[in-house]
Amino acid sequence: MIRVEHLVKRYNNIAAVNDVSFEIKKGEIFGLLGPNGAGKSTIISILCGLLEPTSGRGIIDGFDIQKNAFEIKKIIGVVPQEISLYSTLTARENLDFYAKVYGLPRRLREQRIAELLKMSGLTLRADESLQSYSGGMKRRINIAVALLHKPRILFMDEPTAGVDPQSRKRIYDTILELNSKGMTVLLTTHQLEDAEKLCHRIAIVDNGKLIALDTLEGLMKLVGESDIVRIEARDITQNTITSLEKINNVQKISVDGETMTVQLLKGREMLARIIDILTDSGTKVDSIQIKEPDLETLFLHLTGTKLRR
Ligand SMILES: Nc1ncnc2c1ncn2[C@@H]1O[C@H](COP(=O)(O)OP(=O)(O)O)[C@@H](O)[C@H]1O
Ligand SMILES: [Mg+2]
Repeated sequence: MIRVEHLVKRYNNIAAVNDVSFEIKKGEIFGLLGPNGAGKSTIISILCGLLEPTSGRGIIDGFDIQKNAFEIKKIIGVVPQEISLYSTLTARENLDFYAKVYGLPRRLREQRIAELLKMSGLTLRADESLQSYSGGMKRRINIAVALLHKPRILFMDEPTAGVDPQSRKRIYDTILELNSKGMTVLLTTHQLEDAEKLCHRIAIVDNGKLIALDTLEGLMKLVGESDIVRIEARDITQNTITSLEKINNVQKISVDGETMTVQLLKGREMLARIIDILTDSGTKVDSIQIKEPDLETLFLHLTGTKLRR
């Protein structure tokens, strides 16, 4: 349904998107997961026709993103990262404004707006100005706007950024519900929870490059059987790291600020040994945690840095 081939976007000499290729199947919820600045918004903007790629190409439902922008606009809905609503207008007025922009006839407009307000759970507050809305409520209206013209494909750029837990749950339910009715979804996120809860497949992006692509299960296999021991400590020296690396089971150590993450086999059994080394070296330990791998540990495994939230 969507195919991206060797996409590149350069700003001066910096590649914001650097040779990215992937395919999204019909009916799939596909996630682009990565930290700020990874290139996620740039990829989405190119696919929506808002930005020209430097090279490479994209095909959406058989249409070329550069040659058939007009046809593509009709079948895609776009939820931008920045909320684009008029805060002095009510939710209903905002939807009506965009429905006119899309050229929906009046009767259809009223019906569609009522449906979408219901979907957003905001029917009762539809006639309040957005100034009284929380970030999450505005985000829900922003999603409704993208659905006015009944697109078949939905692009969502950080749909849960800056929303309260209640709205987050509601947004998850909306995405799953739309998908169950056949909507293909491409979303970007820097939050692991989004990718874990929603996405059939996840592409991990970092520094403009796609560094892994698989189902959650497949991605977790990359980390394998190892455990992760996370140590918050001050004064972590290179000597301490070298001593820890000598433990046979240790596969990888990364240090990010005051957090040292040690990936190793049989973490529980090796914990005493680790604590001995830290104590002997005079490292001031604030906390030690042992955890099963999750998407965050995968990101750490792939890039050596923590996923910023
Ligand atoms: N208009 C622009 N001019 C120069 N650099 C840009 C521009 N837009 C984005 N970038 C850079 O491209 C990179 C990717 O940005 P972006 O796609 O917004 O990342 P993400 O959405 O993953 O946070 C960043 O390093 C950003 O600073
Ligand atoms: Mg972005």
